[in-house]
Amino acid sequence: MLALLDDALSREGPMLFLTGAGISAESGIPTFRGPEGYWTIGSKNYRAEELATYEAFTRMPEEVWAWYLYRRSVCRAASANAAHLALVELERALGDRFLLITQNVDGLHLRAGSTPARTFQIHGNIDYLRCEDESPEELHPRIREIPAGISLEWPKTRRIADAERALLQCCGRGRWSRPHVLWFDESYDEPLFRFESSMDAVRRASLVVVIGTSGATTLPSHIVNVAAHRRVPMLVVNQDESPFTQIAERLSSAAVLRGTATQYVPAITRALIERA
Ligand code: APR
Repeated sequence: MLALLDDALSREGPMLFLTGAGISAESGIPTFRGPEGYWTIGSKNYRAEELATYEAFTRMPEEVWAWYLYRRSVCRAASANAAHLALVELERALGDRFLLITQNVDGLHLRAGSTPARTFQIHGNIDYLRCEDESPEELHPRIREIPAGISLEWPKTRRIADAERALLQCCGRGRWSRPHVLWFDESYDEPLFRFESSMDAVRRASLVVVIGTSGATTLPSHIVNVAAHRRVPMLVVNQDESPFTQIAERLSSAAVLRGTATQYVPAITRALIERA
């Protein structure tokens, strides 16, 4: 690991950290595809994966919203862990040389203290909503926090009350706002999800560190494939095998750190700070 970090420090370009649900698992937020994962367990009435689609939202907005408000309550009950905090410390040391790309919608990186400008939330943020109309930004900011009148405690079976429905139907002529997340039947873009900026960053990166993701989504796969192709020093932190650990095992420019995020991320960031 140290030789790869030294190689990275001798190069130009951003140090890119790509995180997935595994980094928040030790904060108590279920992953998606693990034994207790959201996609594994599902909800009371629907397969969870079906709820995470635009198609489901247009058919049953209340059910989809209630499920996201439940998930938001799970995220809000959690606190950042040592891995999130280590990345904040590294960002302070590296400044603009640091970039965080997260698939997590839990907002824990930002709550830990990561800077929004250097944190690309490529799947959105569960604390936010947006309208899909084209109203001017100053009259109707597209992305904004879920209103305070919506409870932060949300048991799985709770339904939306009338007053809450009025707050969520805030998109002109009483139309529904939507959770600010990327759904399975939607595509990455630059304005909302920083697709081009992420690809640009990995083309210039001096280091890529992949933490706690199963490699099931396309932008993270592009990032790892570009890093592998460029032979950029790469570390993959995961307690289990994934397509990304398999790629890293085949490369002399990469290494797998088999274990949890809190076990390895603080050690990586400490080594970088000491050697920078
Ligand atoms: N430390 C490190 N890795 C861990 C830990 C941990 N404490 N706990 C679990 N993992 C690993 C798992 O082994 C798995 O490889 O984290 C990964 C989590 O995988 P997923 O549940 O698939 O989550 P993620 O990769 O973030 O999912 C990507 O899929 O449906 C979408 O939008 C959703 O953003 C999500 C995306």
